[in-house]
Amino acid sequence: ASTTDVDVSSLEPGQSIKGVFRDQPLFVKRMTAEELAEMKAVDASGLRDAQTLEERLGEGNEDILVQLGVCTHLGCVPLGAGEGEDKGEFNGYFCPCHGSHYDAAGRIRKGPAPTNLAVPDFVFTNETVIRVG
Ligand code: FES
Repeated sequence: ASTTDVDVSSLEPGQSIKGVFRDQPLFVKRMTAEELAEMKAVDASGLRDAQTLEERLGEGNEDILVQLGVCTHLGCVPLGAGEGEDKGEFNGYFCPCHGSHYDAAGRIRKGPAPTNLAVPDFVFTNETVIRVG
């Protein structure tokens, strides 16, 4: 199994890098302070796929959201990681194939997708580079 390194040093709050991990789209985003506050305030227990922001980010990770850009319904690539793309009703990610709306932490909030966008295993190899896989 191969790994993918992503340099996040130039990533400004609100910006995403679209990469590839094992032939699948990878979204790496530095969340904004506002997004972090809003996502932290959500009562995760009421969500379809109950995960807190902290669980999405992983321990010791303040603001870099790492997830596969693969809708968990039937595998389309959701919008929202690119500039000007439709972020859907929860200001995160929107899959136009059948209308799944994910929040800014990649959690499914509306539409047919059964689970949150997948968070792959990753580690920070130093302060600015994450290694996925
Ligand atoms: Fe995304 Fe169906 S594949 S909503």
